[in-house]
Amino acid sequence: MSIPFITAEEAASYIKNGDNVAFSGFTASGTPKVVTVALAERAKKLHEEGKPFKINIFTGASTNDHVDGELARANAVNIRMPYQSQGDMRKSINAGDMHYVDAHLSHLAQDLRYGFFGDIDVAIIEATEMSPNGEVVLGAGLGMTPTIAQMAKKVIIEYSSYYRTSFRGFHDNYIPLDPPHRREIPIYKPSDRIGSTVLKIDPNKIIGVVPSNASESIKPFTEPDETSKRISEHICNFLSTQLREGRIPKEFLPIQSGVGNVANAVLYGLGEDPHIPQFEMYTEVIQDAVMHLMEEGRCRFASTCAMTFSDDAMLHFMDNIDFFRDKVLMRPGEISNSPEVVRRLGLIAMNTALEADIFGNVNSTHIVGTKMMNGIGGSGDFCRNAYLSIFSCPSIQKGGKISTIVPMVSHVDHSEHSVKILATEQGVADLRGKDPRQRAETIIENCVHPMYKELMWDYLKLSKGGHTPHTLNAAFALHQAFQEKGDMLQADYAKFI
Ligand code: COA
Repeated sequence: MSIPFITAEEAASYIKNGDNVAFSGFTASGTPKVVTVALAERAKKLHEEGKPFKINIFTGASTNDHVDGELARANAVNIRMPYQSQGDMRKSINAGDMHYVDAHLSHLAQDLRYGFFGDIDVAIIEATEMSPNGEVVLGAGLGMTPTIAQMAKKVIIEYSSYYRTSFRGFHDNYIPLDPPHRREIPIYKPSDRIGSTVLKIDPNKIIGVVPSNASESIKPFTEPDETSKRISEHICNFLSTQLREGRIPKEFLPIQSGVGNVANAVLYGLGEDPHIPQFEMYTEVIQDAVMHLMEEGRCRFASTCAMTFSDDAMLHFMDNIDFFRDKVLMRPGEISNSPEVVRRLGLIAMNTALEADIFGNVNSTHIVGTKMMNGIGGSGDFCRNAYLSIFSCPSIQKGGKISTIVPMVSHVDHSEHSVKILATEQGVADLRGKDPRQRAETIIENCVHPMYKELMWDYLKLSKGGHTPHTLNAAFALHQAFQEKGDMLQADYAKFI
């Protein structure tokens, strides 16, 4: 059958107020870039006419300004899940203008299939190759595209001509059976392929194809700053010592690395460390650093959900695509982040905290317990099941007015039971095998900034006993001092004695 080319405006006209709309991709990579801009325009016009228009958005992870930015600015979002990282959408969420359901990335595809959120009315999917029978080669990010392509009542294809070389062979499309029929996911090493290179979509569901030639518009990372470099040095030293002491097997273990400047700095650090052998990655996103590490022979293979390369790096990747063909496999988020596989492979998982407490609980999402930053993303999928779960952050923020290490986190994403190692530019705290008091001592000693150490020891002195030495009316004194006086250092524990 022949599938018609249509305009972005025509495609947008098929989406109705209240629809559940799902998108391909993971981060900006592989996410549609054209139809949503027309959809935002349509929403604005309908709002001007006094008509309601809001949709529910389901994605693999964060998207791009074309999706989250455009639709948030047009006030066209009712429910958003499972993750976002876009400034205007963040404002809408924190203003209460939309519902944001922050969820583990590995969960959403199966939760959709279980029927927890109803039908998918429309799926918008970026394709880089397509045949008339509905066989599609996806773009640079996979997300939960196999599931939404299967579930959606209607599909709109954004056909991207931006990719000048074929991505065929980089994808591993796979949907596990749902309970009670699920079997093990047969991945025993990061490079094991289990699915199909192409995605088959029922052509009868495809409304039309919208041409697009937009890039992912991803900016390069800035050079790691001194703090990120120091965190990276501490983590690399820690890992090479673990290796030397036999606590990490001599072949090393696959690495998962979160996104951001610290994560990038750590990867570069691992690449430069002569004590760390060539390694593999089992992760959800690879960024520019990983591409360079592959070219330098330091990273052998990466299983990922997306190649989130800056535009320049993507051009370089495409120019040298044959070099990377046997080094990268992109999988759906429920596989790249599968707790089962993470536990089996024994990952070293490295993620970033906004704040951590002296007992090892981590807050990755909420500023002072209330304002959403981005979301938990895949950090929970990895950290709970990793061989070694490492969290890092600078010990202070805002010129020292915030200590990121506090007596009690203002929101918990990762509990003391999952967090094994905490690192700041001050040092590394190894929390394995330690009770709460011992954890507090090692975190204060190794991770807290010198200007906050005394306050933390003072907090512990308030304790009247118990297994975890908390003093509830004083636990948030640092946060309160920041809210009232703009500086956590103004906290005074004397008044709680
Ligand atoms: N209290 C208040 N503000 C804080 C803070 C704290 N404890 N910690 C950081 N901030 C502020 C910073 O000052 C900065 O503010 P600015 O934007 O005004 O400069 C901002 O929050 C971001 O901090 P930064 O250190 O630059 O963060 P980052 O880019 O390294 O990202 C996370 C850190 C935690 C936000 C990010 O890693 C994230 O969203 N993680 C959750 C998802 C995840 O882990 N995904 C990967 C899984 S595979």
